[in-house]
Amino acid sequence: MTLQNIIANLLKRKTPDDAVKSASNGGLEKTLGVWDLIILGVGAIIGSGIFAVVGIAAAGSADGASPGAGPALVISMIIAAIACVFSALCFSEFAAMIPVAGGAYSYTFATLGEFAAWIIGWVLMLEYVIAFIAVSCSWAKYVVHFLEGFGHILPAWITNPPIWLVTDYRTAVNSLTAQGLDTSVIPSIFGIPVCINLPAALIILFITMTLVKGTKDSTKFAAFMVALKLGIIALFILSGFFFVTPSNWGTNWATFAPNGFSGIFMGAFIIFFAYIGFDALATTAEECKNPQRDLPIGIIGSLVVTTIVYTLVALVLTGMYKTQGNVDSAFLGAPLAFAMENVLHGWVAKAIPGFMSVGIIAGLTSVLLVMELAATRILYVMSRDNFLPKAFQKLHPKYNTPHILTWVVCIVSIFGTLTLNLDAAANLCNLGTFTSFIIVCAAILILRKIDPDRPRPFKVPFCPWFPLAGILCCGGLMGFMMFTAKGDAAKLSTELFIAWIIMGIIIYASYGYRKNRLAEQKEIAENE
Ligand code: ALA
Repeated sequence: MTLQNIIANLLKRKTPDDAVKSASNGGLEKTLGVWDLIILGVGAIIGSGIFAVVGIAAAGSADGASPGAGPALVISMIIAAIACVFSALCFSEFAAMIPVAGGAYSYTFATLGEFAAWIIGWVLMLEYVIAFIAVSCSWAKYVVHFLEGFGHILPAWITNPPIWLVTDYRTAVNSLTAQGLDTSVIPSIFGIPVCINLPAALIILFITMTLVKGTKDSTKFAAFMVALKLGIIALFILSGFFFVTPSNWGTNWATFAPNGFSGIFMGAFIIFFAYIGFDALATTAEECKNPQRDLPIGIIGSLVVTTIVYTLVALVLTGMYKTQGNVDSAFLGAPLAFAMENVLHGWVAKAIPGFMSVGIIAGLTSVLLVMELAATRILYVMSRDNFLPKAFQKLHPKYNTPHILTWVVCIVSIFGTLTLNLDAAANLCNLGTFTSFIIVCAAILILRKIDPDRPRPFKVPFCPWFPLAGILCCGGLMGFMMFTAKGDAAKLSTELFIAWIIMGIIIYASYGYRKNRLAEQKEIAENE
């Protein structure tokens, strides 16, 4: 095999027609309509980003490594939204043109060829599985915090469980050391410390069982969760509005944006995590009743809804609480609940944040549902394309869902909750997502050139300017974080991202490349 042959194989494209043909043999049930998609979209997007990460985006990280945007958080929110809108338009053009389950992965296969497709699939796996793990850990934290409030009614093992049963080892050690407690309370088996994040493992199991039963049931469940979290956010915006002190927004540029453009751009990079999820909708294309019409509406609709909600939350939050200078550490952990508690008095100061916790737990549950759904659908298509073992394609005999894959993601994620550093996970997720957005914007430009006559039920307006603007915004924010951010989380996530890409190249070279050539030889033999 010559180098030329190898390069030709790496660049081999799967035409959009081939992708649609393999999808038509897929057998996933078509049950999703436009409202199901908007619910899934909002369900995937609104989660720990707006409920937790927003505190760091506004006030900066506790170690001072990341500068906060201050009241200019609203500008960071809009910059992150703009980066997403250009990419969302490109996702919509592709989703309507090539309605298959793999999302960005399938679009890359149709434009940049086999190797780039594998890498993007590998990066998407990172995005969805890590987001799934990170959000399940946040979920566990909120549930434990919520149950603490029932100390006088429920038994102590529920309201005050041992730390080694509710978090990962590193967090348990850090927390015990910070409180001046002995780390020997963590039990060990044969010298290996045992820390299990039980609530996170239980929610992962629950979401997996719901997904194995079918996507339609999952969206009914998501609809309830989405309604609850939107209700809680509406409560925050409407009641918080009355407690806004305009001077908290700052009186000049220096107090409005205390860390200048550096704080605004870092805020935009961090808060980008809050928008991740609309791209996951494209992975459900094979389960849509009318993907050509409904997917663009679902993708852009859910992004517009969340951008409006986030902008209002940013305005109210920074108006209620002064985010310039030193802030209370509780603000960084649970900013919305803290800001409320700070302005209320008496029993209401306990009741309202309690209600909000319920909404937040519901919100995180729906994010979990869509993240696992997206991870399994990407893996499903990659196994159909010979990059992963064929066993992953097996559908459940009764529910018609890729149950083996769903259980694989479940087990990997439970292991992830035992070891992962959460700060780095959110950054890592952002790096993976920016990469996939940049490739999708570039792929739109390429396909418009190489296949201009293909019917496009939805077209990105102002092409090539909008896709180019998407590449510039995403690349700019990604580069800004990689080259300017200080601190362990930023460094670790950059290193892990590079390690993940190298691992992907090795797996492709040793498995996917070979399997694809064997499949080609088999096809040639069958045609002869
Ligand atoms: N956008 C999702 C969240 O904020 C990942 O939790």
